[in-house]
Amino acid sequence: MIRAIAYAGVSLWLTLASALAGDTPAQSARSAAEIMDILMWNREPVGGPFTLTDQAGHERTDRDFRGKLMLVYFGFTYCPDVCPADLQAIGLALDKLGRDGNQVQPIFITVDPERDTATHLADYVPLFHPRLIGLTGSAEAIRKVADAYKVYYARVPLDAGDYTVDHTAYIYLMDRDGNYLGFFPPGTSADRMVEIIRPRLAEPAR
Ligand code: NI
Repeated sequence: MIRAIAYAGVSLWLTLASALAGDTPAQSARSAAEIMDILMWNREPVGGPFTLTDQAGHERTDRDFRGKLMLVYFGFTYCPDVCPADLQAIGLALDKLGRDGNQVQPIFITVDPERDTATHLADYVPLFHPRLIGLTGSAEAIRKVADAYKVYYARVPLDAGDYTVDHTAYIYLMDRDGNYLGFFPPGTSADRMVEIIRPRLAEPAR
């Protein structure tokens, strides 16, 4: 009896210790359904401060992009189809905006920081647009920014120890002060993005 109690105590202590050690699970705090509900009905603020590392290995924060609109997209470089298609649309939209496109900063934030190192992002982001910035960071930093942007992501094991990452693929449009304007659903065409973004560019920069 005493032994059983002692054992339970040890096991509780181990659970607490691992919680305190801060092992960040490689997934968002909330489910996909909760996150879609928040975004659809605008129930909570979207976005917020971040400090991450770009594809050149430099530290970047949200404050670096003040004065520009931000198009923020979360995904991972091993994503087979959704991410590349949306990133291509983002790149095309920027080209279609012409010179005004310089006032829009496209940002790709990985939800797979373990594999998407800065070096790896450096090979990937230029495939879509020369000005696309890729951001990575610690598991903890990624989880914090993903939760702030109401992004769902979760690691899904595959055969032979491999894994993929399930994730929501909304494209977030933020204003020149970093405030959330709205999202484009996955599969939005470049033309549609241009239609929405162009009037925003006409608003004077503060
Ligand atoms: Ni993807």
